[in-house]
Amino acid sequence: MNTTHSSLRATALSRRPARARTWALGGLLLVGGLVLWTGQARAADMFQGADLALGQKLIDEHKCVACHTSKVGGDGSAIYKPQGKINTAGLLRGMVEMCNTNMNLGMFPEEVDAVAAVLNRDHYKFTK
Ligand code: HEC
Repeated sequence: MNTTHSSLRATALSRRPARARTWALGGLLLVGGLVLWTGQARAADMFQGADLALGQKLIDEHKCVACHTSKVGGDGSAIYKPQGKINTAGLLRGMVEMCNTNMNLGMFPEEVDAVAAVLNRDHYKFTK
């Protein structure tokens, strides 16, 4: 009798937290959605405030175009493929960061921003 009673109580007790957990999960999803949404809004203008003059100077200094031209000819801009794998501002910045690392250019984060911003202005024109 004692066992039945306590197991009933256990069932009643375990039901309430289950509902609370559903609410908590809902809240978490809502917050997660908001974070994603604002993150995307920020990516759209992630190049705002970038130093374009600095970016252009770094592109000249690091011979980006010279090497690209040796690969694809022309003015080298054919290497930039906005319809290719690099199809968001975030990926473009990531690509420049990867070059920065691979070629040991030693650019600071705001310099990588500046270079990516110039490539975006002149070639990719991503809005997000
Ligand atoms: C030593 C040669 C070399 C140098 C220097 C170089 N690149 Fe590149 N870059 C390449 C090659 C080769 C590719 C093509 C890679 C591929 O398509 O897989 C490429 C591709 C890229 C792409 C991706 C193009 C696309 O849309 O897929 C970006 C962006 C880029 N380079 C930026 C830069 C920047 C910025 C610099 C200078 C800071 C730079 N690169 C310097 C050789 C070079």
